[in-house]
Amino acid sequence: MKIGLFYFSGTGNTWWLCERFKEMAETKGAEVSLHAIDELMASNTASIADVWADNEVVGLAYPVHSSDAPPILYRFLEKVRMEVGDHPSGPKEAFVLTTMQSFSGDGALMLREGLESLGVELKVSKDFRMSANTGVPILTFNPSKDQVLEEQMVKNLEVLEEIVDHILAGRRMLKVQYGEFGRFHGWLQRVGPKWKDRTWRYFAAHPDRCTRCLICVEQCPVGAISVTDEGLVWDRSCTDCFRCYNFCPERAITVKGLAMGRRQRQHTYFRDRGFPPR
Ligand SMILES: Cc1cc2nc3c(=O)[nH]c(=O)nc-3n(C[C@H](O)[C@H](O)[C@H](O)COP(=O)(O)O)c2cc1C
Ligand code: SF4
Ligand code: SF4
Repeated sequence: MKIGLFYFSGTGNTWWLCERFKEMAETKGAEVSLHAIDELMASNTASIADVWADNEVVGLAYPVHSSDAPPILYRFLEKVRMEVGDHPSGPKEAFVLTTMQSFSGDGALMLREGLESLGVELKVSKDFRMSANTGVPILTFNPSKDQVLEEQMVKNLEVLEEIVDHILAGRRMLKVQYGEFGRFHGWLQRVGPKWKDRTWRYFAAHPDRCTRCLICVEQCPVGAISVTDEGLVWDRSCTDCFRCYNFCPERAITVKGLAMGRRQRQHTYFRDRGFPPR
């Protein structure tokens, strides 16, 4: 079975899951190609439609953002739809893998319609609990400690094995965390006060802490940060992934004017282990 897994990962959790998926599925005889959506979207050479159509089964993987998929996933599917056109050929089946801190609601089903508009049926979906990647000043939680995350990753591998078997056997399994309750709360989280899609307005670089190293500018997966005479400026192409915030060596990126507190941690676990791959 030829599988194309298209993923977006802000801080590495989803990347880790996709790498493990590839290893596991390949030991079971599948051929798996991994595609970072941000790189695919930025590339002027590869035709997304060709890459998409060259698979029997496609997977989408993303971090859950407010019980939803990050904006870049919607932009990506729209681009595929435009390129593939009204008469899609290629894959007919899809699966979705998400990573989350703790609660996804029906976040793994958010792209179902988009897939259907491409003639692709969503057959398997699964949320994987990892670690929070936002320890923002206004909220009290921090990303999990490394040891907790590592224990979580071991548990995830067992679940992932089952999911891989389902996909390879062509079985249907759409999981919504906590059933109808989760679906309702997912909906509430999406219609309630939103900071999703607006975070770019809340980010700034602290004038005293920022050294202008430009790591955030280089690391941003969508090129949403520019350097101006007034300092760094975030724009609406931001996909809310918090990589800039977490990877800033000076902890200089503020959210709504608030800098990272002394008790706040950054989610740099995967940054220190080869993410993002170049
Ligand atoms: C803007 C934003 C919203 C998030 N919303 C949720 C959420 O609703 N539920 C949840 O469990 N985790 C949420 N998280 C945590 C991420 O889903 C989680 O840390 C994910 O594994 C990050 O994956 P990545 O490292 O591949 O970007 C959110 C993170 C961000 C940045
Ligand atoms: S990574 Fe941090 S210190 Fe470096 S330019 Fe960005 S905000 Fe400033
Ligand atoms: S500006 Fe920051 S949060 Fe937004 S997409 Fe870029 S790295 Fe992610």
